Amino acid sequence: MPVMPSAAADYNRPAMTTDLPIQTQHALQGLNTFGIDVRAAAYLAIDDPAMLASVRADPLLAALPRLILGGGSNLLLTGDFSGLVLHMVTRGIAVVGRDANTVLVRAAAGEGWHALVCWTLAQGLGGLENLALIPGSVGAAPIQNIGAYGVEVGDCIRCVRYFDFDSGSIETLDASACGFGYRDSVFKHHLRQRAVILDVTFALPLHWHANLQYAELANAVRSAHPDATSITPDSVSAAVIAVRRRKLPDPAVIGNAGSFFKNPVVPATVQAALLQRFPGLVGHVQGDGSFKLAAGWLIDQCGWKGRSLGAAGVHESQALVLVNRGNASGTEILALAHAIQADVQQRFGILLEPEPVIL
Ligand code: EPU
Repeated sequence: MPVMPSAAADYNRPAMTTDLPIQTQHALQGLNTFGIDVRAAAYLAIDDPAMLASVRADPLLAALPRLILGGGSNLLLTGDFSGLVLHMVTRGIAVVGRDANTVLVRAAAGEGWHALVCWTLAQGLGGLENLALIPGSVGAAPIQNIGAYGVEVGDCIRCVRYFDFDSGSIETLDASACGFGYRDSVFKHHLRQRAVILDVTFALPLHWHANLQYAELANAVRSAHPDATSITPDSVSAAVIAVRRRKLPDPAVIGNAGSFFKNPVVPATVQAALLQRFPGLVGHVQGDGSFKLAAGWLIDQCGWKGRSLGAAGVHESQALVLVNRGNASGTEILALAHAIQADVQQRFGILLEPEPVIL
C-alpha cells in the first residue's frame, strides 16, 4: 500500500519550478466524465503535494487561472481552459488512529472515491457503504458534500487538510468547520479558488448499524436479507451498487456528471401551494420544516425524460441526469440545461440550480 505523507513538512519540501512537468495544450476529454473534448493551456499532475508550493512560488504559474481537477465527475467544460489545470493524483489510504468507538482512516485527495469505499469494506469497516459507486475522487467529495441513500460524506468526516494558495500554508479543518450542507461546504464559498484539498480523514464506526432510511435501498437490502442480523456493510454496498447501476448511467459508457441539478429546497407554504396544483409532487420534509422537492420529477413532468437537443440528452430512467449522446460540446449540454430550467421555471415557478461546476 502506498505510504501516506506523514508530516506537513513533506508538503512544503521545495521543488524546483523548472522540475515541474507542465504540459501545454493538454487534452481533457478523458479527464471529465461528460467526455467533453477540450484542452487546457497548461496541465500539471500533482503526485506530491510539495508541487503546490512550487506552483505558488512561481509568479508566472501563480498568476494563471487555476482549475483543481479530481475525477472530473462534477464538471461541465464549455470551452478550452486558458489557465493551469492542477490534477490531483496523490495516492495513499491508511488507518491513522482508533478509539473505543471509531476508526480513523485517512485518504489522499487523488484516490478514487469508490476505491476508498472498497478499501474500507475490505478492512471490515462500515460507514461509507451507502456512498458506494459515486464517481469522483476523495479530494472532491467534501467540496460538494457528496451524498446518496440517506448519507452525506460530511457525516463520516473527521477533518480535511488543504493547501492554502493565499498563505502557502497547510491547514486542517474539523468537520464542524467545513460548513457541510446539502451539496455544499466552505470549499464552494470562501475557500473556493484558494484551498486545494490534500487528504480527508474519516471517522468510521466500530459498532456499525445499517442506515436504511432510504426506502428503495431498505427494500433492496431486506429482500436479499430477510434475516436482519445477516445484513453487513458489504451487503448494503452491494444493494447500493445494484440500485445505482439500474438507475444511473455509467460515465464510462455514456458521458454524464450524475445529477445535473440540485433538488430544490422550498418553504412549506410553496410546497403546499404546488401540491394543490400538482397532487403527484414528490418531496420530503426537512428538519427545519422546509421541503426538498425531487428535481427529477419536475423535469420529468415537463416531458424532458429521454429527450435530446442535438447530442445532449436527458437520461431515459432518471430525468435529473444529462448525458452526452456522442461528441456533444459543453455548450450543447448547457443549452439543454437552460431549456430545462426555463420549462421548470415556467411550469412550477422554481429555478433549478445546476450541481456541477460550469466553466
Ligand atoms: N423522479 C421522477 N422522474 C425521474 C427521476 C426521479 O419522477 O426521472 C422522482 C421519483 O419519484 C423518485 C424521486 O424523484 O422517487 C427521487 O429520485 P431518486 O430516488 O432517483 O433520487 P434523486 O432525488 O433524483 C438524489 C441525489 C442523487 C442520489 C439519490 C439517492 C441530488 C441532486 N441527487 O437523486 O445523487 O444518488 O438522491 O440518494 O440530490 C448526484 O448527486 O450526482 C446523485 C446521483
